[in-house]
Amino acid sequence: MLKFANLTSNIHVFWFLIIFSTLSSCLSTNATDYAALMAFKSNLVLQKDSILSTNWTSTTHFCSWFGISCFNQRVTKLQLSGLALEGKVSSYIANMSQLVEVDLSSNKLGGILPSELGFLKQLRILNVTKNSLQGTIPSNLSQCEHLQELHLSYNFISGNIPGKLGLLSNLRFLGISYSNLTGEVPASLGNFSKLETFSLVENDLFGEIPEELGKLTSLRQIHLRGNNFAGSIPHSIFNISRLERLTDLGLAENDLNGYIPNEFGRLLNLQYFEFESNRVSGGIPYGLFNITSLQVVKTTRNYLSGELPHDLGNRLPNLEEISLSHNQFSGELPSSICNATKLLYLQVENNSFHSSVPMTLGKLEKLEVLNLQFNLLVNNPRSIYLDFLNSLVNCKNLQYLVIDSNPLNGVLPESIGNLSSNLKVFAAVSCELMGSTPYGLGNLSSLNSLELSINDLQGKVPSSLGSLQNLERIYLSGNQLGFIPAELCSIKILGTLDLGENRFSGSIPECFQNLTELRGISLDANNFNSFIPVGFWDLVKLEGLDLSRNNLHGMVPTELGNLKALYIMDLSFNNFSGEIPNSVGNLQNLLALDMSHNKLQGPIPNSLSNLIVIESLNLSSNGLSGGIPASLGSLRDLKDINLSFNMLQGEIPQKGVFTNITYQDLMGNPKLCGAPNLNFPLCSSQASGRRKRRTTLLVLKITIPIAAAFLLISMCISFVILSRERQAKNQTESDSLHVGHQIITYHELVRATQSFSESNLLGKGSSGMVYKGKLSDGSFVAIKVFNMQYARALKNFDAECEVLSNVRHRNFVKIITTCSNLEFKAMVLEFMPNGSLDKWLYSESTCLRLEQRLDILIDVAMAMEYLHHEYTVPIVHCDLKPSNVLLDEDMMAHVADFGIAKILA
Ligand SMILES: *[C@@H]1O[C@H](CO)[C@@H](O)[C@H](O)[C@H]1NC(C)=O
Ligand SMILES: *[C@@H]1O[C@H](CO)[C@@H](O)[C@H](O)[C@H]1NC(C)=O
Ligand SMILES: *[C@@H]1O[C@H](CO)[C@@H](O)[C@H](O)[C@H]1NC(C)=O
Ligand SMILES: *[C@@H]1O[C@H](CO)[C@@H](O)[C@H](O)[C@H]1NC(C)=O
Ligand SMILES: *[C@@H]1O[C@H](CO)[C@@H](O)[C@H](O)[C@H]1NC(C)=O
Ligand SMILES: *[C@@H]1O[C@H](CO)[C@@H](O)[C@H](O)[C@H]1NC(C)=O
Ligand SMILES: *[C@@H]1O[C@H](CO)[C@@H](O)[C@H](O)[C@H]1NC(C)=O
Ligand SMILES: *[C@@H]1O[C@H](CO)[C@@H](O)[C@H](O)[C@H]1NC(C)=O
Repeated sequence: MLKFANLTSNIHVFWFLIIFSTLSSCLSTNATDYAALMAFKSNLVLQKDSILSTNWTSTTHFCSWFGISCFNQRVTKLQLSGLALEGKVSSYIANMSQLVEVDLSSNKLGGILPSELGFLKQLRILNVTKNSLQGTIPSNLSQCEHLQELHLSYNFISGNIPGKLGLLSNLRFLGISYSNLTGEVPASLGNFSKLETFSLVENDLFGEIPEELGKLTSLRQIHLRGNNFAGSIPHSIFNISRLERLTDLGLAENDLNGYIPNEFGRLLNLQYFEFESNRVSGGIPYGLFNITSLQVVKTTRNYLSGELPHDLGNRLPNLEEISLSHNQFSGELPSSICNATKLLYLQVENNSFHSSVPMTLGKLEKLEVLNLQFNLLVNNPRSIYLDFLNSLVNCKNLQYLVIDSNPLNGVLPESIGNLSSNLKVFAAVSCELMGSTPYGLGNLSSLNSLELSINDLQGKVPSSLGSLQNLERIYLSGNQLGFIPAELCSIKILGTLDLGENRFSGSIPECFQNLTELRGISLDANNFNSFIPVGFWDLVKLEGLDLSRNNLHGMVPTELGNLKALYIMDLSFNNFSGEIPNSVGNLQNLLALDMSHNKLQGPIPNSLSNLIVIESLNLSSNGLSGGIPASLGSLRDLKDINLSFNMLQGEIPQKGVFTNITYQDLMGNPKLCGAPNLNFPLCSSQASGRRKRRTTLLVLKITIPIAAAFLLISMCISFVILSRERQAKNQTESDSLHVGHQIITYHELVRATQSFSESNLLGKGSSGMVYKGKLSDGSFVAIKVFNMQYARALKNFDAECEVLSNVRHRNFVKIITTCSNLEFKAMVLEFMPNGSLDKWLYSESTCLRLEQRLDILIDVAMAMEYLHHEYTVPIVHCDLKPSNVLLDEDMMAHVADFGIAKILA
């Protein structure tokens, strides 16, 4: 008997197991995996041609499906990276209990990370980088005890980092960068004894960086840039001797006591030292120069000062990048830097280095970028030629050579033509260069930008430049150059040609018309003395045209209107004559137009008022006549106008730019009138104009009121009729609509408003806050919570309760219930979806139709009539204003806020 009982109970257990096994992942089989994969697939939004649509079919065993790896017929890897998958991550994924790796990175998955992932006891790698996942990090992940790599970066994951994650003692990689994490870094992360990479770049984390980080003795990389940490660098970090990369620590400004700690020198395996834009001052800790493994030293944009060690290059032989830009370093640019022969980037711009430029830079054979601009570097005093450029000939990969704004004071060597054929930018603006421009420049076949402005270069622009078919920008302004070779016109892609402030004379070369890609051309302050060549007006891509300060003459042709892309045009200080062509109005992108100091005649074209974005207009010192077009006053962006010294006459417009105009902008036009405050006489037509206006005003003053009164009376009559009807209906309606006094507990209010959260706040007033709440039955209510700090608020509560609980009228906000104890007083009111009237009246985005306005008017009037006459005792609202008139979903008005109402009894 006993045996039998045992047997039946065993049979029960057996059945239980069978049933349980289909339900539970713990006892899952390959059938479970199949079902889980199907569930996973069904949660995705797949295109027809997606590989999962075509490949994951029941005709083949799931172990041969794309992206699936199996062991013993069980799924161990799910690798579906970069398939543009959309949809959600199914929680059924957790039923594949043998999963070791899940890689869903670089897709478009949304939704949340299912907390069931915690059931995957075998999981080693979870990679969901680059998706659109939201929600928080499931703290259940802490149960994946074998997890080694957790890649969650580039999502919208928010919330705190769960402290429980500290249980993942096998974790080697933790990457949650470029996300929306908040809160502090939990100290429990100090338990990751095997962690090698710790990356939380660009989140909203704050608080202090926990000292416990120093316990992570396996750490090689820490990336914390782009957070709001406070406090200082935890010194325990300097004990992590294996550390290779410690990029910016994301400490908010000025929280480093202003200095980079000396202890950095203890990190003897450091490869990357990055400290950009941290506002630190002082020097680079000297110990850092003992770390021979350093590859990258970047301290761009700080206030660092002092000198670099003279043997820098010998101490840091592995340097690949040194970027010290935008600091206050001074002293020598150590020539030993040339011994750091692995260097690719040498960037020391915007400092105060004031030695001579090292002569052996050519030892840096791998150099790609050399930027020395804005320092006080000089040339080797023994030579007039810039010989360091000779040496750079060895740097076959050099692409950027920027030495602007140093007092080099020398001559460019002809050997410059032997510089790297990869050179893209050569910039030596404001370097006190003398002599001629080397012909050899024409060998630099990759050159894209040649910048030699503000020097003392003489002679010709080398004709060899014509062979540089990659050249897009030439800046030669501010030199003593005297001849433009025709070859320049064969640079097909030339976009910018700046030849201003030189000694060019004669005709503007006709061949410029071949430069069809030209966007900007400056020929200002030379001695050109021709017409503008006709072909010039076909350069339709021109955005900037500066021909000012020459001796150009002739008419400005009507073809000017072709240059529709122009936004700056300066023709000032020339001898142009004739009229301003009407076609100027076609230049609708023009921001600034200067035609001053010429011999232009005729009227100011009305078409100027088509220049709808123009900010500055200067037509001064010409012979323009006629009136000032009043339409100029309608140009909204026009801030500057100068019309002085012409022969203009008539009335000065009043609007727009003319409201602020000064005498200087109009002087020298003796026949202008209409601005007595600027010493221009009143116009004769103005005086009579005023009289006329006065009579029309008088007529209007009489007729408008009559018409309005008539309208009002007829409206009133119809309203009275209408309102009687409505009133009759109301009485029944309002009674049936009246909600009985529900009982709502404090806790329900807390739940309804998500703990009175900011996002539910509808408004703030003197007596308290109003929240939107969702009750358990799904209905919305407004909850007015009274501020208990103010005795007046309590009075308001009582007054409002008394009034609202007794009035019976549809044009008042209905009270549903109150919730009141010693510490808390709130009133639950009907929710008004359309908000308050003042929002509708004063916001740009909303607009009430006339009939809506009338309806609201009537509603409010009815409410007042009820209060004053129909209620048992008269009540005065005392605070009737648009913000206290609320609108329901049908835009019916309800008067609210009886906090200071007076009951006249
Ligand atoms: C599960 O595995 C068994 C035996 O290994 C096999 O016969 C069966 O077809 C598999 N089922 C599925 C759904 O792959
Ligand atoms: C599915 O993809 C896998 C891996 O790319 C391939 O071996 C298999 O033949 C494909 N099956 C089908 C039915 O296309
Ligand atoms: C995780 O995904 C990212 C993005 O696709 C990829 O760069 C990275 O190598 C992946 N890591 C692992 C361990 O698979
Ligand atoms: C999340 O962070 C991104 C930038 O990392 C930001 O553009 C976005 O507004 C943030 N979203 C939220 C909801 O905070
Ligand atoms: C750097 O190394 C030198 C010896 O090579 C040593 O004398 C000096 O104390 C070290 N400096 C620092 C700050 O560690
Ligand atoms: C470069 O290194 C060599 C050998 O270590 C040394 O003799 C030389 O002085 C160094 N050059 C400079 C400019 O420091
Ligand atoms: C300009 O173009 C015309 C026609 O394409 C050509 O005949 C002329 O030689 C070119 N001029 C220069 C200087 O390249
Ligand atoms: C006039 O000048 C005042 C003060 O400089 C400025 O705020 C205002 O915008 C100007 N008005 C116009 C129309 O330029």
